[in-house]
Amino acid sequence: MKLNLLSKNFQNKLSTTISVIGLGYVGLPLAISAAQSGYEVYGIDVDRVKVELIKSGKSPIEDISDLEIQNTISGKLQVVSDFSPVEGSSIVIVCVPTPLNIERKPDLSLIDAAVKSFAKHLTKSTLVILESTVQPGTTRDYLVSLISKYSALTPSDFNVAYSPERIDPANKEWNLKNTPKIVAGLNPIATKQARDFYSKFVDNIVECESPEVAELAKLLENTFRYVNISFINELSIFCRSFGVDINQVVAAASTKPYGFMPFYPSIGVGGHCIPVDPLYLSDKARTMGVQTKFIDLADEINTQMPNFFVKVASQRIGGLRGKKVLVIGVSYKPNIADVRESPVEALISELKQKGAQVLWHDDLVKEWNGKKSVALSNQYDLAIIATPHDYLDLTKLGDVPILNTRGSI
Ligand SMILES: NC(=O)c1ccc[n+]([C@@H]2O[C@H](COP(=O)([O-])OP(=O)(O)OC[C@H]3O[C@@H](n4cnc5c(N)ncnc54)[C@H](O)[C@@H]3O)[C@@H](O)[C@H]2O)c1
Repeated sequence: MKLNLLSKNFQNKLSTTISVIGLGYVGLPLAISAAQSGYEVYGIDVDRVKVELIKSGKSPIEDISDLEIQNTISGKLQVVSDFSPVEGSSIVIVCVPTPLNIERKPDLSLIDAAVKSFAKHLTKSTLVILESTVQPGTTRDYLVSLISKYSALTPSDFNVAYSPERIDPANKEWNLKNTPKIVAGLNPIATKQARDFYSKFVDNIVECESPEVAELAKLLENTFRYVNISFINELSIFCRSFGVDINQVVAAASTKPYGFMPFYPSIGVGGHCIPVDPLYLSDKARTMGVQTKFIDLADEINTQMPNFFVKVASQRIGGLRGKKVLVIGVSYKPNIADVRESPVEALISELKQKGAQVLWHDDLVKEWNGKKSVALSNQYDLAIIATPHDYLDLTKLGDVPILNTRGSI
């Protein structure tokens, strides 16, 4: 009876207007897809520079073209910095970052800030969907109490669901539309509302029994990658000593048609998700007195990878002091400009500590930590390929010795 009433109230709202909070790698594609599917979308971001950039028809991310932005902002997407459009929205989707703090512990302060900003505009029967990656229990406990704290509403006045984003920047095959989307509401109506919303622009919606299952599914996906990439990196260290190319080993193992999934060597895992999300899980486990040894070990191996390559570099050119080293590719993965949690930062800093003069080249990133990308040339004692973007023309290095962190020996 109570559920039916809530459902009826919800339908009475202007159900075609929604607000997306946070216009980054997750929120912007979502806002555009929702707008293209017919929703009136308000994209809300506190970064005024980004808002102005989008309004001027320029895309801040690689996966969205300027043309796509221009077509959408001249139609159903409005990009703003103030939160008042939440008042007329039937759905509010939260897509703000969930990083680690200085102690490498979960930092939910941006969710807090976002909720604080929009909750006062929230009206009865609105569905709030959290997309940011969080610890299990966050939607039910933390989010609901935050909304209650900052709004004039009680928990029975609004609906809440969790739907983790699975976007993989620069992935040409899998996108928001064709990647199955997990949804889980705090009650069946919230789940249905979330399903109805996403099914307008996502092919396959997967309902979970509870937000906790959905929250943990997201952490499992990313922890699975973290553990396996770290394992391959550990194996790649062995292969270098043994004199075998790890990529040939992975290629050979990949011919097994079942029970094996390839992971590839690198200078370490970066980005806002894979090296961060597993620590959300291990932190939660620690508070419950449960061990997560795989995650701890993966984290240890991952953070040691830049140091390993500094040692290889030093051996390769007989010490680093006074040597001129070019680091190629500084983003955390090929063909994108995202430098968050990039292991290349640790590589450069350790090379410098060993006395090398370090410059970097990355035409996608262009400017980073106050320094500019330099041209590829033959003026170096060593070039280290950290992140191999497709556009790179290594012939410009001439005879410079190359250390490839992606696995050649
Ligand atoms: N990047 C990915 O590939 C990816 C994939 C899946 C899930 N996620 C998760 O999605 C969430 C968002 O990640 P992202 O990569 O889109 O981050 P992002 O940094 O690209 O974008 C977040 C946006 O939120 C804005 N923002 C910050 N605080 C705000 C506030 N208080 N109010 C309004 N806007 C605010 C920022 O200005 C920024 O534009 C994270 O929890 C992340 O773990 C990311």
